[in-house]
Amino acid sequence: MTIAQPSVAVSPFVSRSWSVFPAGSNGEFGLPEDLSTVLVEGSGCTVRDAADREYLDFTMGWGSILLGHGHPGVTAAAVKQIPLGTNFAHVNARSLELAERIVALSPACDRVRMCASGTEATMHCIRLARAARRRAGILKFEGAYHGSHDVGTTSLFATRLHSWPQPEPLGSSMTPREAADMLVAPFNDAAVACRLIAEHADELAAVIMEPLHRCLPPEPGFLEAVREACTAHGVLLIFDEVVTGFRLARGGAQERWGVVPDLVAYGKAIGGGFPLGIYGGRADVLDLVREERMGRDDYVWTASTVGGNPVSCAAGLAVLDALAAPGVYERLDALGHDLREGMRRAIAAAGVAATVIGVGPLAQIVFRAGPVRSSRDIWQGAPGLGRRMMLALFKRGVFLNPMGTKLYLSLAHDAAACSGFLERFAAALDEVMSGGPAIA
Ligand SMILES: Cc1ncc(COP(=O)(O)O)c(C=O)c1O
Repeated sequence: MTIAQPSVAVSPFVSRSWSVFPAGSNGEFGLPEDLSTVLVEGSGCTVRDAADREYLDFTMGWGSILLGHGHPGVTAAAVKQIPLGTNFAHVNARSLELAERIVALSPACDRVRMCASGTEATMHCIRLARAARRRAGILKFEGAYHGSHDVGTTSLFATRLHSWPQPEPLGSSMTPREAADMLVAPFNDAAVACRLIAEHADELAAVIMEPLHRCLPPEPGFLEAVREACTAHGVLLIFDEVVTGFRLARGGAQERWGVVPDLVAYGKAIGGGFPLGIYGGRADVLDLVREERMGRDDYVWTASTVGGNPVSCAAGLAVLDALAAPGVYERLDALGHDLREGMRRAIAAAGVAATVIGVGPLAQIVFRAGPVRSSRDIWQGAPGLGRRMMLALFKRGVFLNPMGTKLYLSLAHDAAACSGFLERFAAALDEVMSGGPAIA
């Protein structure tokens, strides 16, 4: 595989993109203009841009492409469905089959509904919990991302170290009244989280969490403690499995760590790159959406024009079929393990104070010596180095999210792709630590 080094010339595609998308971006967290690029195709674990440069892809559609770009099974399933109809806004054979498979795989799910994204899936879980509990309060963990609504981004990048449970809205779209319904706790600190749940039980509808907090695994007993506190106080527990779902195990984080929430949100991998979000949980909570309840004070309206469209669902079924092959999760785990170990070796060789976190096919470098247990630990590392590192990798032909967060592997990655990455990783580390070219 030959990987071209991206040049710094701004292509006409990039100029066009900067003139119609804010900062030339659809939300992928701002590359500087000289690194901006417009993609035209992907294959396996590579993507190619409009200037015909090929990159090793280590973001894989932000984790939505778990099998690799252009996977034959997913492509065939979608292509077969397209001439039969792309959307009915109605239960269809594909969405029914997928719903049955999810209910069988996800311990939390008695019932599900479908939407078009992870953002919508977490939003509906929160709305359902508020209706079920007739309370507005939501406790989330500092640094967690649950999609681009205001609850999902509260304290995502807190600018100050607030005392718990004070939230910090991200930006100014959240009203003060909405912010007042938010409580924020530290991940992996069961004592603080459980105390806040107990003290605020009367205000809380739900606790929402990424069981794998960004790229940080839960310490033994943490998920169990939160689960117990929620149960003890009648607060609903929502797992945001948009990242972990079908990626850490067929039954996601629930299977991996053996803790079952009341409600769960899925997205990303289950759509095979097509728009699909799924939310589900206890039948008594999901049934709050039944139209005959309209007019009651626990009714919840949900609808989605393209949610559950047969093309996305056909792709989702093909993803689940591929993930049912023997050895798939062992392979994903081994890929991630080897990549993280390779990154650790490069860090040790460079004598850099950094920690590599992640589980399964996920990895992230954090510029501080361990242990790293929470987002606050990450933020207290060397400021700005994560982004500089991502940009230094990007310059070297590694396609990733320059936010400096996690790297996603897929079943299309192999040892060659990982060693290609690790070579560039060592060079990028060198550049960043030697104070090499600063990039905005
Ligand atoms: C944990 C988590 N939840 C929710 C979302 C939102 O999903 P989407 O971008 O499909 O709306 C994301 C996206 O990155 C995520 O990582």
